[in-house]
Amino acid sequence: MPSGPGGYWLCKPCDGVMSVAGLADRMITEFDRALRTVAAPPRVPFGAPLQSVAPELTEKERAHSAALMRVNHVGEVCAQALYRAQAAMTTNPDLVRRFEAAAAEETEHLGWTSERVAQLRSHTSLLNPLWYAGAYVLGVAAARAGDALSLGFVVETERQVEQHLQGHLDALPAADQVSRALVARMRDDEARHGREAKAAGAATLPAPVRFAMRLAAKVMTTTAYWI
Ligand SMILES: [Fe+2]
Ligand SMILES: [Fe+2]
Repeated sequence: MPSGPGGYWLCKPCDGVMSVAGLADRMITEFDRALRTVAAPPRVPFGAPLQSVAPELTEKERAHSAALMRVNHVGEVCAQALYRAQAAMTTNPDLVRRFEAAAAEETEHLGWTSERVAQLRSHTSLLNPLWYAGAYVLGVAAARAGDALSLGFVVETERQVEQHLQGHLDALPAADQVSRALVARMRDDEARHGREAKAAGAATLPAPVRFAMRLAAKVMTTTAYWI
Protein backbone atom coordinates (compact mmCIF):
# COMPACT_ATOMS: atom_id res chain seq x y z
CA MET A 1 0.00 0.00 0.00
CA PRO A 2 1.48 3.39 -0.91
CA SER A 3 2.05 5.94 1.84
CA GLY A 4 -0.20 8.96 2.01
CA PRO A 5 0.13 12.31 3.77
CA GLY A 6 0.12 12.49 7.55
CA GLY A 7 1.02 8.89 8.26
CA TYR A 8 -1.93 7.44 6.39
CA TRP A 9 -1.86 4.65 3.85
CA LEU A 10 -3.88 4.44 0.71
CA CYS A 11 -6.05 1.34 0.93
CA LYS A 12 -6.23 0.21 -2.69
CA PRO A 13 -9.14 -2.21 -2.55
CA CYS A 14 -11.37 0.36 -0.90
CA ASP A 15 -9.81 3.45 -2.54
CA GLY A 16 -9.84 5.07 0.87
CA VAL A 17 -7.37 5.75 3.61
CA MET A 18 -6.50 3.73 6.64
CA SER A 19 -4.39 5.05 9.52
CA VAL A 20 -1.10 3.35 10.25
CA ALA A 21 -2.60 2.27 13.58
CA GLY A 22 -5.63 0.86 11.78
CA LEU A 23 -3.44 -1.02 9.34
CA ALA A 24 -1.26 -2.38 12.15
CA ASP A 25 -4.36 -3.38 14.09
CA ARG A 26 -5.76 -5.27 11.10
CA MET A 27 -2.43 -7.00 10.44
CA ILE A 28 -2.19 -8.12 14.07
CA THR A 29 -5.76 -9.45 13.95
CA GLU A 30 -5.06 -11.39 10.74
CA PHE A 31 -1.78 -12.75 12.10
CA ASP A 32 -3.48 -13.82 15.32
CA ARG A 33 -6.18 -15.61 13.35
CA ALA A 34 -3.56 -17.35 11.20
CA LEU A 35 -1.67 -18.51 14.29
CA ARG A 36 -4.84 -19.81 15.92
CA THR A 37 -5.66 -21.76 12.75
CA VAL A 38 -2.32 -23.40 12.10
CA ALA A 39 -0.82 -23.65 15.59
CA ALA A 40 -3.71 -24.13 17.97
CA PRO A 41 -6.77 -25.42 16.14
CA PRO A 42 -9.83 -25.87 18.35
CA ARG A 43 -10.49 -29.41 19.51
CA VAL A 44 -14.17 -29.85 18.79
CA PRO A 45 -15.72 -33.22 19.57
CA PHE A 46 -18.04 -34.31 16.79
CA GLY A 47 -20.73 -35.42 19.23
CA ALA A 48 -21.07 -37.80 22.10
CA PRO A 49 -22.80 -40.68 20.28
CA LEU A 50 -20.27 -40.85 17.49
CA GLN A 51 -17.36 -40.14 19.77
CA SER A 52 -18.11 -43.31 21.67
CA VAL A 53 -17.90 -45.47 18.54
CA ALA A 54 -14.60 -47.27 18.86
CA PRO A 55 -13.19 -47.74 15.36
CA GLU A 56 -12.04 -51.26 14.74
CA LEU A 57 -9.45 -50.50 12.16
CA THR A 58 -6.41 -52.41 11.02
CA GLU A 59 -3.13 -50.50 11.19
CA LYS A 60 -3.27 -49.96 7.44
CA GLU A 61 -6.84 -48.62 7.62
CA ARG A 62 -5.95 -46.35 10.53
CA ALA A 63 -3.00 -44.85 8.65
CA HIS A 64 -5.11 -44.35 5.51
CA SER A 65 -7.97 -42.74 7.43
CA ALA A 66 -5.56 -40.46 9.28
CA ALA A 67 -3.93 -39.34 6.02
CA LEU A 68 -7.31 -38.60 4.42
CA MET A 69 -8.46 -36.66 7.46
CA ARG A 70 -5.16 -34.72 7.44
CA VAL A 71 -5.97 -33.71 3.86
CA ASN A 72 -9.43 -32.58 4.97
CA HIS A 73 -7.92 -30.62 7.85
CA VAL A 74 -5.65 -28.80 5.38
CA GLY A 75 -8.76 -27.99 3.34
CA GLU A 76 -10.27 -26.35 6.40
CA VAL A 77 -7.04 -24.43 7.12
CA CYS A 78 -7.26 -23.10 3.56
CA ALA A 79 -10.98 -22.29 4.00
CA GLN A 80 -10.10 -20.13 7.02
CA ALA A 81 -7.43 -18.27 5.06
CA LEU A 82 -9.63 -17.75 2.00
CA TYR A 83 -12.61 -16.41 3.93
CA ARG A 84 -10.43 -14.23 6.17
CA ALA A 85 -8.65 -12.72 3.16
CA GLN A 86 -11.89 -12.15 1.27
CA ALA A 87 -13.48 -10.52 4.32
CA ALA A 88 -10.43 -8.30 4.86
CA MET A 89 -10.31 -7.11 1.26
CA THR A 90 -13.93 -6.28 0.46
CA THR A 91 -15.55 -2.98 1.36
CA ASN A 92 -19.07 -4.40 1.12
CA PRO A 93 -20.26 -4.72 4.75
CA ASP A 94 -22.78 -7.42 3.81
CA LEU A 95 -20.03 -9.47 2.23
CA VAL A 96 -17.73 -8.91 5.22
CA ARG A 97 -20.47 -10.32 7.46
CA ARG A 98 -21.03 -13.27 5.10
CA PHE A 99 -17.36 -14.18 4.85
CA GLU A 100 -16.77 -13.81 8.59
CA ALA A 101 -19.84 -15.92 9.37
CA ALA A 102 -18.67 -18.57 6.90
CA ALA A 103 -15.18 -18.58 8.45
CA ALA A 104 -16.74 -19.03 11.90
CA GLU A 105 -18.81 -21.97 10.65
CA GLU A 106 -15.75 -23.53 9.00
CA THR A 107 -14.01 -23.33 12.38
CA GLU A 108 -16.21 -26.23 13.43
CA HIS A 109 -14.95 -28.31 10.50
CA LEU A 110 -11.39 -27.31 11.40
CA GLY A 111 -11.91 -28.54 14.96
CA TRP A 112 -13.60 -31.79 13.93
CA THR A 113 -10.86 -32.75 11.48
CA SER A 114 -8.11 -31.77 13.93
CA GLU A 115 -9.74 -33.88 16.63
CA ARG A 116 -10.22 -36.83 14.31
CA VAL A 117 -6.61 -36.80 13.11
CA ALA A 118 -5.52 -36.88 16.77
CA GLN A 119 -7.94 -39.73 17.53
CA LEU A 120 -6.38 -41.65 14.65
CA ARG A 121 -2.97 -41.15 16.31
CA SER A 122 -1.52 -38.95 13.61
CA HIS A 123 -0.52 -35.33 13.06
CA THR A 124 -1.91 -32.47 11.05
CA SER A 125 0.08 -31.25 8.05
CA LEU A 126 3.55 -29.91 8.82
CA LEU A 127 3.06 -27.48 5.94
CA ASN A 128 -0.04 -25.80 7.39
CA PRO A 129 1.60 -22.34 7.64
CA LEU A 130 2.45 -22.63 3.95
CA TRP A 131 -1.07 -23.76 3.00
CA TYR A 132 -2.56 -20.91 5.01
CA ALA A 133 -0.27 -18.30 3.43
CA GLY A 134 -0.92 -19.59 -0.09
CA ALA A 135 -4.68 -19.67 0.40
CA TYR A 136 -4.62 -16.18 1.91
CA VAL A 137 -2.88 -14.83 -1.20
CA LEU A 138 -5.48 -16.57 -3.37
CA GLY A 139 -8.27 -15.05 -1.28
CA VAL A 140 -6.77 -11.58 -1.71
CA ALA A 141 -6.52 -12.12 -5.48
CA ALA A 142 -10.15 -13.30 -5.63
CA ALA A 143 -11.33 -10.30 -3.62
CA ARG A 144 -9.44 -7.88 -5.84
CA ALA A 145 -11.32 -9.22 -8.85
CA GLY A 146 -14.51 -7.71 -7.41
CA ASP A 147 -17.33 -8.91 -5.19
CA ALA A 148 -19.19 -10.96 -7.82
CA LEU A 149 -16.07 -12.88 -8.83
CA SER A 150 -15.03 -13.20 -5.20
CA LEU A 151 -18.37 -14.90 -4.52
CA GLY A 152 -17.86 -16.95 -7.70
CA PHE A 153 -14.56 -18.11 -6.25
CA VAL A 154 -16.43 -19.30 -3.14
CA VAL A 155 -18.99 -21.14 -5.28
CA GLU A 156 -16.28 -22.91 -7.28
CA THR A 157 -14.16 -23.70 -4.22
CA GLU A 158 -17.11 -25.18 -2.33
CA ARG A 159 -18.17 -27.16 -5.41
CA GLN A 160 -14.72 -28.69 -5.77
CA VAL A 161 -14.51 -29.39 -2.03
CA GLU A 162 -17.91 -31.07 -2.12
CA GLN A 163 -16.75 -33.34 -4.96
CA HIS A 164 -13.49 -34.04 -3.14
CA LEU A 165 -15.33 -35.01 0.07
CA GLN A 166 -17.66 -37.26 -1.90
CA GLY A 167 -14.52 -38.98 -3.22
CA HIS A 168 -13.28 -39.44 0.34
CA LEU A 169 -16.52 -41.19 1.25
CA ASP A 170 -15.56 -43.79 -1.35
CA ALA A 171 -11.95 -43.93 -0.14
CA LEU A 172 -12.40 -44.08 3.65
CA PRO A 173 -12.43 -47.56 5.21
CA ALA A 174 -15.99 -48.82 5.72
CA ALA A 175 -15.17 -49.51 9.38
CA ASP A 176 -14.25 -45.90 10.08
CA GLN A 177 -17.79 -44.75 10.83
CA VAL A 178 -16.70 -41.63 12.70
CA SER A 179 -14.62 -40.18 9.86
CA ARG A 180 -17.29 -41.10 7.34
CA ALA A 181 -20.00 -39.32 9.34
CA LEU A 182 -17.76 -36.27 9.68
CA VAL A 183 -16.99 -36.11 5.98
CA ALA A 184 -20.65 -36.58 5.00
CA ARG A 185 -21.70 -33.74 7.29
CA MET A 186 -18.93 -31.48 5.97
CA ARG A 187 -19.88 -32.29 2.36
CA ASP A 188 -23.46 -31.18 3.05
CA ASP A 189 -22.27 -27.99 4.77
CA GLU A 190 -19.92 -27.11 1.87
CA ALA A 191 -22.75 -27.62 -0.63
CA ARG A 192 -24.88 -25.19 1.36
CA HIS A 193 -22.04 -22.63 1.53
CA GLY A 194 -21.80 -22.80 -2.26
CA ARG A 195 -25.56 -22.34 -2.70
CA GLU A 196 -25.55 -19.36 -0.36
CA ALA A 197 -22.68 -17.68 -2.22
CA LYS A 198 -24.46 -18.26 -5.52
CA ALA A 199 -27.67 -16.73 -4.19
CA ALA A 200 -25.68 -13.69 -2.99
CA GLY A 201 -24.83 -12.78 -6.59
CA ALA A 202 -21.80 -14.86 -7.58
CA ALA A 203 -20.41 -14.60 -11.10
CA THR A 204 -19.15 -17.70 -12.91
CA LEU A 205 -15.37 -17.95 -13.00
CA PRO A 206 -13.63 -18.33 -16.36
CA ALA A 207 -12.81 -21.95 -17.25
CA PRO A 208 -8.99 -21.50 -17.06
CA VAL A 209 -9.34 -20.17 -13.51
CA ARG A 210 -11.50 -23.14 -12.51
CA PHE A 211 -8.92 -25.47 -14.05
CA ALA A 212 -6.05 -23.75 -12.22
CA MET A 213 -7.96 -24.05 -8.94
CA ARG A 214 -8.45 -27.77 -9.55
CA LEU A 215 -4.75 -28.16 -10.28
CA ALA A 216 -3.73 -26.28 -7.10
CA ALA A 217 -6.14 -28.40 -5.06
CA LYS A 218 -4.62 -31.56 -6.51
CA VAL A 219 -1.12 -30.49 -5.47
CA MET A 220 -2.37 -29.67 -1.98
CA THR A 221 -4.35 -32.89 -1.45
CA THR A 222 -1.57 -35.13 -2.81
CA THR A 223 1.11 -33.48 -0.66
CA ALA A 224 -0.98 -33.28 2.52
CA TYR A 225 -1.75 -37.01 2.37
CA TRP A 226 1.92 -37.63 3.18
CA ILE A 227 3.21 -34.51 4.98
FE1 LIG B 1 -15.38 -26.76 5.62
FE1 LIG C 1 -17.44 -24.35 3.24
